[in-house]
Amino acid sequence: MINSSIMNNFGGNWTEAKMDIVVSYAKAYLVIMNKQDWSKTIYFDGFAGSGIIDSEKSNEIIKGTALRILELEDPFEFDIYYFVELNEVHKNELEKRVNDNYFGKNAHVVKADCNEKILSMSKFLKENKNYRTLAFIDPYGMSVDWSSINSLKDLGVDLWILVPTGIGVSRMLKNNGDISDSWFSKLEKFLGISREEIINHFYKKQVVNTLFGEESITVKEANTVQKIGELYKERLLTIFKFTSDSFVMKNSTNSIMYHFMMATNNPNALKIANEVIRPKYKL
Ligand SMILES: C[S@@+](CC[C@H](N)C(=O)[O-])C[C@H]1O[C@@H](n2cnc3c(N)ncnc32)[C@H](O)[C@@H]1O
Repeated sequence: MINSSIMNNFGGNWTEAKMDIVVSYAKAYLVIMNKQDWSKTIYFDGFAGSGIIDSEKSNEIIKGTALRILELEDPFEFDIYYFVELNEVHKNELEKRVNDNYFGKNAHVVKADCNEKILSMSKFLKENKNYRTLAFIDPYGMSVDWSSINSLKDLGVDLWILVPTGIGVSRMLKNNGDISDSWFSKLEKFLGISREEIINHFYKKQVVNTLFGEESITVKEANTVQKIGELYKERLLTIFKFTSDSFVMKNSTNSIMYHFMMATNNPNALKIANEVIRPKYKL
């Protein structure tokens, strides 16, 4: 399930680092939320997986984030767990693991597209003001639509999201700007901005001297992948009050693949998020 050649630039393993970040954050989150007796907590996992992953560190099968979050119970646990998984086999495997090992928890495993369930969760939170959600959105690619993220505006959600800056968006932003209509549509849907805004953000016109005189060509701005990470943060800041530093994940050739970040409306949550990210790695 996990490509074992993908490592961060410390030669470590970022899948497990990402999991540690979410679990450490969840522990601190539960402590804070339990001081507010009026509130109930939901853990929402939009790309839950099967419950196990291949460890990059040891090449062994280890528990994935979903099971690690279910294990948190001393001193506090979530009131509701909601796991979304599109792949039927993964969904069934996760459901079995949850039923076998975490029986009695208010845990739901559903086979669905994450976007659909983010919208359902937003609706639920609008109607049930005493609920707070910790959401973990962990896709491989550009499967999360901006309209889904947009639905979270003004809600009590702390959102950890894996943004495929290097492996997704950057690959679509071709050097000469010659991007097909279908790729532009995908980029617009993912970033929630127009084709013109995408072009203005990532490309500039440059005049070059050719054999037949001056010509204007389209050139991509430098540091595209970092710019995508910054743009996604800017986009999140139109929905949430704060975004954390990014945990930047690189492959063995030192190319950035993902930015992992947290968005929230709560200043204390921001502080905790940065505290859990900074010892790992930040850019
Ligand atoms: C990176 S893995 C999840 C790993 C898991 N978050 C963990 O930390 O243990 C991504 C999972 O998302 C599922 N998936 C892919 N597209 C999806 C979608 N649109 N909605 C929900 N799940 C999806 C895949 O089947 C896969 O099991």
